[in-house]
Amino acid sequence: MRYLTAGESHGKQLTTIIEGLPSHLPLLSDQINESLIRRQGGYGRGRRMQIEKDLVEITAGVRHGYTLGSPISLVINNDDFKHWQNIMGEQPIPEDEEVRRTISRPRPGHADLNGGMKYGHRDLRNVLERSSARETAARVAAGSVAKVLLKELGVSIGAYVREIAGIVSEFDETMALKDRIESSEQSPVRTLDKSAEAKMMSAIDQAKKEGDSIGGVVEVYVEGMPPGVGSYVQYDRKLDSRIAGSVVSINAFKGVEFGIGFEAGRRNGSKVHDEIAWEPSRGYYRKTNRLGGFEGGMTTGMPLVVKGVMKPIPTLYKPLQSVDIETKEPFAASIERSDSCAVPAASVVMEHVVAFELARALLEQFPGDYFPRMKQAVEAYREEVKNF
Ligand SMILES: Cc1cc2nc3c(=O)[nH]c(=O)nc-3n(C[C@H](O)[C@H](O)[C@H](O)COP(=O)(O)O)c2cc1C
Repeated sequence: MRYLTAGESHGKQLTTIIEGLPSHLPLLSDQINESLIRRQGGYGRGRRMQIEKDLVEITAGVRHGYTLGSPISLVINNDDFKHWQNIMGEQPIPEDEEVRRTISRPRPGHADLNGGMKYGHRDLRNVLERSSARETAARVAAGSVAKVLLKELGVSIGAYVREIAGIVSEFDETMALKDRIESSEQSPVRTLDKSAEAKMMSAIDQAKKEGDSIGGVVEVYVEGMPPGVGSYVQYDRKLDSRIAGSVVSINAFKGVEFGIGFEAGRRNGSKVHDEIAWEPSRGYYRKTNRLGGFEGGMTTGMPLVVKGVMKPIPTLYKPLQSVDIETKEPFAASIERSDSCAVPAASVVMEHVVAFELARALLEQFPGDYFPRMKQAVEAYREEVKNF
């Protein structure tokens, strides 16, 4: 299974095409919309999210509520396009008119300057319109379809904010996913710890007041993945490596940890590795889950615990120094509009990006053309490995 996205931030629409999904998977646009709405919320978001109300239209690959096995095409219209038609339209500009709202001032921390050099765009709008995190809406749409497949196979996934600006949320690590999801959905910053929540919100307020921005750490938690999904035999089939790559591909994400993550480099092996046990009803399991559900590029059957770190948003009301590419003069980078903290929204994005990689790995491992056959194969495999 793979997907592609197309669309500019202020363009007509965002498009996602997913190929390789089995036939006969029940799929409704409401299931996709639920995810899109979750991405748009979160304390600390700016004006753009009030302008756009993301709703998907399924334009191909689904009939009467079921997938056909053909490519699925999902479209999200940009309501704001009506105000940008002259600036972002595909038709040539009449000779007596000038292109409006051109940008010659690259913003530090964005793709503007490198992208302009690479594609020869002297109007940097041609870069930022596509490099904008608006594209993550299209990625959430793809992930929401993957989540439907996972749910049907008994795999549940959720995400929450672990840390904002150094304020760490503490909670009972044995907490079930269902409770984690419920708690994060009730929190304006999508976190599980009420006292950290209040501090995170005031850190966001403070950053906003100072014209600054803040980042943080997101955690994705998955229950129900069968053991042995992924592979140890080739670098590009290792599931943890694919997840790491896809998380770092989210705008502003700079690193990934599994389980205790970098802490593993500071502890002795006896305090890192998870001992193996077996019970007739449960099959094999680990007594602890410090490695976050992965060994040898494959799932262990324990919950998956993946963290991703997001840098602070680079567009600041408090301007950063840059250089105008036309005049070569220094200037202070000003802003169009920006969030001061997008970590809560980014947690929804990371959840969906990880969901896609999990569904992709399952589809590679089990017969993936006809969903009922696939489901049967996954269930049979779960039983088989219990008594391995
Ligand atoms: C959900 C989400 C919302 C974002 N919103 C903004 C924003 O409003 N303003 C901004 O400057 N950057 C925003 N970003 C971050 C930029 O898109 C990102 O810093 C930029 O693409 C470069 O990231 P990179 O260096 O990791 O590729 C957002 C990122 C995410 C994931």
